[in-house]
Amino acid sequence: MEATGTEQYTPMPRIGEKAPAFKAVTTQGEIDFPKDYEGNWVILFSHPADFTPVCTSEFMTFASLEEKFNKAGCKLVGLSVDGLYSHIAWLRTIKDRIEYKGMKDVEVKFPLIEDITMNVAKMYGMIQPGEATTKAVRAVFFIDPKGVIRTILYYPLSLGRNFEEIYRVLIGLKTADEFGVACPADWQPGDDVIVPTAGSCGVAKDRMEGKAGEMTCYDWFFCTKKLAKDEVLSKVVKD
Ligand code: BEZ
Repeated sequence: MEATGTEQYTPMPRIGEKAPAFKAVTTQGEIDFPKDYEGNWVILFSHPADFTPVCTSEFMTFASLEEKFNKAGCKLVGLSVDGLYSHIAWLRTIKDRIEYKGMKDVEVKFPLIEDITMNVAKMYGMIQPGEATTKAVRAVFFIDPKGVIRTILYYPLSLGRNFEEIYRVLIGLKTADEFGVACPADWQPGDDVIVPTAGSCGVAKDRMEGKAGEMTCYDWFFCTKKLAKDEVLSKVVKD
């Protein structure tokens, strides 16, 4: 259905806000969100529709990576505006019939929310009428152990998500929290991290070229330090 311009726009949750609460039926039983996930990171993500190709490729990829996300202390919860029986039939088809890019026999063990009323999708700004009025866009909400939204990604219907980037975001957020640092462009564990407070270099300009202690300052507002990959992974990922 085309957007008419007269749609009722609901406010969207934003970074730094508490994740809106809801109860829902899922393929793994009822959930009380985000209460059931307190103390864990959780990624709530939407997909446009069951039995569609991009969504199938995404679900197979995410399900194959679920253990990796779980080891990083993060649970996964999916959602679309389809009903429970459609979800069950689609996930069974994926497991029984689809072999794609070396992935086969893929079992989706994380809950997939049925949202035929679109209540949850609307609450989370997943219905974006300019893109589709009857389908959720590809949204990804990263919610921390206190139930606070920390990152939001939105993709259109036509573009599948990059799950390595979704994992990088999770590890980056956890690293920033754990070590009190920020992560620069394209950061990966093992890369230098940013010492965040403006002026925190605490060194005169003439000492900022090259290394001052363990920090490297490129200017007064831009200092980095080393943070070993092992140190990051030992704190943010369980073995
Ligand atoms: C897909 O997942 O392939 C898809 C879903 C809705 C619209 C377009 C593509």
